[in-house]
Amino acid sequence: MRSPTLDAVTDALRNVEDPIFQKPLGALGTLVEARLEDGRAWAKIRVSSPSEEVRQVLQRRAEEALEPMGIEFVELELEVNVPTREATSTDPIPEVRNVILVMSGKGGVGKSTVATNLALALRRLGTRVGLLDADIYGPSLPTMLGIEGQPTSKDGTRMQPLQRFGIKLMSIGFLLEDPKQAVIWRGPMLHGALQQFVGDVDWGALDYLIIDSPPGTGDVALTLAQKLRITGAIIVTTPQEVALQDVYKSVSMCRKLNIPILGVVENMSYFMDSAGVKHEIFGSGGGQKIAEFAEAPLFGQVPIDTLVREWGDQGTPIVQAAPASPAGQAFAGLADALAEKIATEHFKRSEGDAAPQGEGPKRLRILR
Ligand SMILES: Nc1ncnc2c1ncn2[C@@H]1O[C@H](COP(=O)(O)OP(=O)(O)OP(=O)(O)O)[C@@H](O)[C@H]1O
Ligand SMILES: [Mg+2]
Repeated sequence: MRSPTLDAVTDALRNVEDPIFQKPLGALGTLVEARLEDGRAWAKIRVSSPSEEVRQVLQRRAEEALEPMGIEFVELELEVNVPTREATSTDPIPEVRNVILVMSGKGGVGKSTVATNLALALRRLGTRVGLLDADIYGPSLPTMLGIEGQPTSKDGTRMQPLQRFGIKLMSIGFLLEDPKQAVIWRGPMLHGALQQFVGDVDWGALDYLIIDSPPGTGDVALTLAQKLRITGAIIVTTPQEVALQDVYKSVSMCRKLNIPILGVVENMSYFMDSAGVKHEIFGSGGGQKIAEFAEAPLFGQVPIDTLVREWGDQGTPIVQAAPASPAGQAFAGLADALAEKIATEHFKRSEGDAAPQGEGPKRLRILR
């Protein structure tokens, strides 16, 4: 077989379809560059989701496109440009591309655990991530991430978030003298504190700001929705029937506030014993029911794993401590699903006219 020309390789790659936009890279203008050296191809492609799934699909499609030309090795460099929500002129954090609210209505279902591990999993995909603990009554992120300290301010007006594992963090816990002390704040105080929290933190440019909310009726969602455009909410639930009522309420709350529900996470779905037998300790079906009610996808099911709690208590969430564990993998799957959902929704809103433009925040170099 005659060795292919760079033009032929470029043409073939231009015909590869983007998994989110479902259009050829050539039409989208997202094939940035292609090279051919010693029968090996290299290409730089711009994508709107950092997810592992998108990477794998593109890799496979590029290989399939070039294989008939006798090219067996394709290296892709993905330039990720996460789409952004619409920020109005009064938005306090316009450089934050996506604001994601983790909520439930129900206490103790794992909101903080999901928010923390999701943030870390998104960071591990190479994106810029912030995490805001908006649980003013019982902040838990300082413990879960093993940090304490007071935020400082460079200019005397905006607080610098703390950093851990490459993500930016802010928690009301940082501002309390004794983090174990209970705070009894009434609605208006919460409202004021949160408004300040959002606007007075110097988040800088972020792809995703994950907000962990307290259990309950949705004060946080209400306050935030008044202040800025929220990309959407993630609803956390457990499988059992008794847990669902409060969760339904938080779905309705989102509807009232016009906050899109991006997806549902079922936590503590099952326990896998050492013999590999699955036990559905809390029953089954809760996640699916909530997803149907919310008309949103079930992003994933996270197993019960004592390591989740143990690592959480030690300040290193499982995604960081044991990314290959089943629970670690489940959280990584949530990050993938969320990133893709945000990219797809953005694509739908813009009717396909929103191919990721320009320089992205991060480049992922992918080697087969
Ligand atoms: N999948 C899991 N496997 C084992 N333990 C878990 C799992 N998810 C959460 N936990 C543990 O359950 C407890 C409650 O979780 P978490 O604090 O995240 O819930 P929450 O919904 O944020 O609670 P609250 O309503 O009080 O804010 C924690 O001790 C946490 O480590
Ligand atoms: Mg919590």
